[in-house]
Amino acid sequence: MPGMLEGQVAIITGAGRGIGAAAAKLFAEQGAKVVVSDLDAEPAEAVVAEIKAAGGEAIAVAGDVTNPDFPNELMKKTMDAFGKLNILVNNAGYTWDGMLHKMSDKQFQAMLDVHNVAPFRLIRAATPFMREAAKAEKGEGKDPEPRCIINVASTSGLFGNVGQINYSTAKSGILGMTKTVAKEWGAFGIRCNAVAFGLIETRLTQDAESGEKIAVAGEQVALGIPSHLKGMATMLIPLGRAGTPQDAAGAILLLASPYASYITGQCLNVTGGLSA
Ligand SMILES: NC(=O)c1ccc[n+]([C@@H]2O[C@H](COP(=O)([O-])OP(=O)(O)OC[C@H]3O[C@@H](n4cnc5c(N)ncnc54)[C@H](O)[C@@H]3O)[C@@H](O)[C@H]2O)c1
Repeated sequence: MPGMLEGQVAIITGAGRGIGAAAAKLFAEQGAKVVVSDLDAEPAEAVVAEIKAAGGEAIAVAGDVTNPDFPNELMKKTMDAFGKLNILVNNAGYTWDGMLHKMSDKQFQAMLDVHNVAPFRLIRAATPFMREAAKAEKGEGKDPEPRCIINVASTSGLFGNVGQINYSTAKSGILGMTKTVAKEWGAFGIRCNAVAFGLIETRLTQDAESGEKIAVAGEQVALGIPSHLKGMATMLIPLGRAGTPQDAAGAILLLASPYASYITGQCLNVTGGLSA
């Protein structure tokens, strides 16, 4: 049976781990050719190897989404490999928590850079392959190919979160970007939506006591949530559990699928029912 994304090409940033990796595998299962992009080459290559072993098509493109040259490089490698672009998932990200009164400018700016500036530059770099390609198809009297952008947001951006003034500001900002892209590019049939995740079990949300770090922006940034807070958060989730990366990937696929063909400018909350 053909998959829901048969014949489409998708770029997923931050696809070496967690939600992005699960989405890359699910998209490939559904017939998409996937560009698995991540800061870290090794996990990205491992996801590509898994996709290929399952009979899918994928390439890995390693690099930092906050590098101003990276978006054009990513687009070029996508075109060289697959010749077009249907879906862009802006998923790459991390947290750099701290209380407002102690937060440095660098720490605040880093979250805007990775969660706002990078998605903006990536969408802009996709212009020739999304907006202009759709315009040309319409000019030829054809129905444009399916094209969409999915931005990964967070409940921190919807409700705020203690210790995340930088992250919550940025994750809120991506919602404004999503709605504006939906309005500017809707005329070309290009949809743009966001997914706000609650608590999904990944490296980002593992117990802070494990000491996991991300090496980024010239810093070693501690990741994770103190285990007592995680336990409390889980108790507040109506479905009674944190989400899995597969739960999260399913929501991204939903918005990329033909069943979402008339949905744009929206934010889908994927939280197990948590709503504050
Ligand atoms: N896990 C959650 O509970 C949760 C909740 C809400 C939102 N999110 C968002 O989901 C997205 C994915 O996070 P995850 O939970 O899968 O975390 P993760 O750490 O498992 O995966 C994130 C991936 O992004 C990559 N990445 C980080 N910074 C990058 C950069 N500058 N350039 C390129 N790649 C970069 C990392 O290398 C990593 O492989 C993030 O945007 C995160 O903010 C996660």
